[in-house]
Amino acid sequence: MLPLKEATAAKHKIAEQMPFNQRMFRGEMNKHDYLLYLQQQLAVFSGMEEAGLPHPALNRSDKVRQDIEEIEKTGVQAEGVLPVTKEYVEYLKGLSDEDRLPHVYLNYLAVMFGGQMMKKVVPSSGKMYEFDDMPGAMQAVRRVQKDEWADEVNRGFDYSIKMFAELEEHSKVS
Ligand code: HEM
Repeated sequence: MLPLKEATAAKHKIAEQMPFNQRMFRGEMNKHDYLLYLQQQLAVFSGMEEAGLPHPALNRSDKVRQDIEEIEKTGVQAEGVLPVTKEYVEYLKGLSDEDRLPHVYLNYLAVMFGGQMMKKVVPSSGKMYEFDDMPGAMQAVRRVQKDEWADEVNRGFDYSIKMFAELEEHSKVS
């Protein structure tokens, strides 16, 4: 069996290369588009955090809310939770605690890795990327991680890829 990272590398590449993500990575994101992205992140994180996480320092909802407020205070608004995100949150709710863990790996490690590059270039102070205990939070995921998760992680990537496509459709390129 392939190690998890290798078995999901193709989808990671597709997600990474989605135009919305590329604009974010290059620091070309305006406040509306970033706010819309944060609204999706909040929906996904809240759903998972209601169910419980393997380490308290993983919790992102409060931090994402602060980022959202920071942007909204400047008078910017966005469309809220998009259909694909609602679909993903519903899907996550239907999973057992065990089957939700691959999605914890996917969404929280995404913030810990790619996110550290994003923090410097997004149009907010980027609280979402700050962890009180990053090593502890990372280890808690690494400890439970299994190569058997590949199909479930790839399914999560499919939702993520679809989400970036929908975000792009709603973007207000300035
Ligand atoms: C521009 C966008 C992105 C960049 C630049 C990026 C970059 C990276 C980098 C450098 C790593 C570490 C790779 C290594 O250990 O050699 C990583 C790992 C990871 N990324 Fe991304 N990423 C991006 C988007 C995403 C997205 C959208 C997701 C999921 C929604 C994601 C999920 C993950 C996961 C789960 C890992 C951990 C892999 C493992 O070590 O098991 N990434 N990413």
